[in-house]
Amino acid sequence: MTNNFAQDVLKGLTAKSKHLSSKYFYDDNGSRIFQEIMNMPEYYLTDAEFEILSMQSKQIIDALQFSTPFNIVELGAGDGFKTYKLLEYLVNNDVDFNYVPIDISQEAMDILVERLGERLPSLNIKPKVGDYFEILEVNKQSDFPSLLLFLGGNIGNYQSDKARDLLNLFNDNMKIGDKLLIGFDIKKNPIIIHNAYYDEHGITKRFNLNLLLRINRELGADFKIDDFDFYCHYNPITGDVKSYIVSLRKQSVEIKAINKTIEFDYNELIWTELSKKYSLDEIRNLAKASNFQLITNLLDCKHYFSDSLWEKI
Ligand code: AVI
Repeated sequence: MTNNFAQDVLKGLTAKSKHLSSKYFYDDNGSRIFQEIMNMPEYYLTDAEFEILSMQSKQIIDALQFSTPFNIVELGAGDGFKTYKLLEYLVNNDVDFNYVPIDISQEAMDILVERLGERLPSLNIKPKVGDYFEILEVNKQSDFPSLLLFLGGNIGNYQSDKARDLLNLFNDNMKIGDKLLIGFDIKKNPIIIHNAYYDEHGITKRFNLNLLLRINRELGADFKIDDFDFYCHYNPITGDVKSYIVSLRKQSVEIKAINKTIEFDYNELIWTELSKKYSLDEIRNLAKASNFQLITNLLDCKHYFSDSLWEKI
């Protein structure tokens, strides 16, 4: 079997505790639902980071201390809305840089390029659709320094050891002196976090169940969506939000592409996502563990979110 998606679904749904990876949420439909999540008032992450990038662009650029033109490489750019204010600041101040957004969704990238083209016509934009690391390897050969952006709190979707591995891989693909601006959702009043993920509009539920629709469509399965529900839980001690799909009855689902019928018990869970929240101490430790030096944490006015600037040493 050559298809990673099929292999991961087989592995996850035949495991003792069933799981599916949230990285598969983002087909074109999932990317659209994620935009809806980001527009929800309860999902404070987007506004908090937007505030940081709007109000503190100058501080970020000054802290880079790049003396030549540079590249801004954004990993998982999405529709680029969060980065807009930073790019606008640079363009308005005649700073010489290239913007290299990377995303796996062609649709999201097309929207981004069109919007930025309209709003910032003089921006040098070199969009890339595909795998982060292939593109980062090429970027490492560039004569110019780079600022990597890993925004939106995406690092929270990795378990601690995987987060460290990923950041070490970023580090391997950077030059000494390159910077990484990375978004962390900060531990806060648990009710605020709970409401952002267990939203009363049911959008996050749709986001999760879309994964079953994707398996139906791409792997020839027969999940009946109404027979599944969504649950999530925030543990304020560990900082983990864990999301699950719940089987509402004992049922069998056939998945043709992996030649399997999967049995679900009444109330059986499929773990779909981790959205980890960090303390400032944990951010500092993670920077150290992945061979970066923390330069500064830029926080929004409510201290809900941090864009943390790190340097490859
Ligand atoms: C993309 N990522 C940072 C989001 C998060 O907050 O974990 C995905 C998400 N899942 C539910 N709501 C948003």
